[in-house]
Amino acid sequence: MNRRPLHAVTGAFGYSGKYIAQKLLAKGHKVITLTNSLHRQNPFGEAVQAFPFHFDQPEKLSATLQGVEVLYNTYWVRFNHQMFTHAGAVQNTLALLDAAKAAGVERLVHVSITNPSEASPLEYFRGKAQLERALKESGISYAILRPTVLFGKEDILINNIAWALRRFPFFGVFGDGRYRLQPIYVDDLAELAVQWGERRDNVIVDAIGPETFTYRELVETIGRLIGKTRPIVSLPPALGYFAGWLIGKFVGDVMITREEIDGLRADLLFVDSPPAGKTRLTDWARARRDTLGLQYTSELTRRRDRDAAYASN
Ligand SMILES: NC(=O)c1ccc[n+]([C@@H]2O[C@H](COP(=O)([O-])OP(=O)(O)OC[C@H]3O[C@@H](n4cnc5c(N)ncnc54)[C@H](OP(=O)(O)O)[C@@H]3O)[C@@H](O)[C@H]2O)c1
Repeated sequence: MNRRPLHAVTGAFGYSGKYIAQKLLAKGHKVITLTNSLHRQNPFGEAVQAFPFHFDQPEKLSATLQGVEVLYNTYWVRFNHQMFTHAGAVQNTLALLDAAKAAGVERLVHVSITNPSEASPLEYFRGKAQLERALKESGISYAILRPTVLFGKEDILINNIAWALRRFPFFGVFGDGRYRLQPIYVDDLAELAVQWGERRDNVIVDAIGPETFTYRELVETIGRLIGKTRPIVSLPPALGYFAGWLIGKFVGDVMITREEIDGLRADLLFVDSPPAGKTRLTDWARARRDTLGLQYTSELTRRRDRDAAYASN
């Protein structure tokens, strides 16, 4: 009998996981998802069955993964908050790795971050490095994808830069704004994930897009494309953080954290590698010049409202 390979994707009703699931279904694979939002709008209907993560019940987690050939792991939390922490996400991901091993999962495609380091003072980058090491030591064949920042219609950073440019008479950058980013299109990341899911050699890929911007250039470019060219002002990072905090209070979100500012300023979203994605942010944003940033996109709304689809620009 012709058995369709079973693949598992975390967060298929979220952002990158949704694009990965789409591509796997198009290849004819059977797909399940592990999610913290079991009742979030399911864009795949019956084609993708959803299971809770069961991080605290290893047997259940590994039972869910029985028969899975490839697991695509996007699970992580963006910042520390009263509802979730990086430390918790590290523990949960370690539980996921153990369960994958116990279930005999052949291959793990793991989404990490550029420049992870166990010596980093930044918990995001340190936690990601701990997980990369655990995966390498697990004995499961792996592909580690290290994106910088993603863009796509459900994105937060690019959209909210556009949102701020539409609303305020000037835009403040943290310090000189010369730190760099290499945004990758979420669908290109998904393509990489699926490609590397087919292989069995161990690999680490810097998942970066074809354009490199300084933060200042990124803001200028988005402003120009949406027709909202604003003066760009260098702010002392603490003042920039305070402005972001204030806007966050106003919109009921955490707009940016101190850690994210430190990571940007330390150039951790830049790597000296060839591009892995082909879609240019400038082309993508130009095609959405009329809608990009019309609405603020809130991370916390996604976490609080587990039933609604992710907002999109
Ligand atoms: N987005 C970016 O710009 C960016 C940049 C660099 C690296 N990355 C990495 O790419 C991966 C995927 O990112 P994404 O933006 O595509 O994520 P996402 O779809 O929003 O979330 C991925 C998974 O993590 C879960 N999750 C996220 N935040 C959570 C929280 N606070 N509490 C509990 N569960 C949470 C989601 O839960 P549900 O199951 O409830 O949906 C989903 O299962 C992550 O590992 C991230 O570190 C992303």
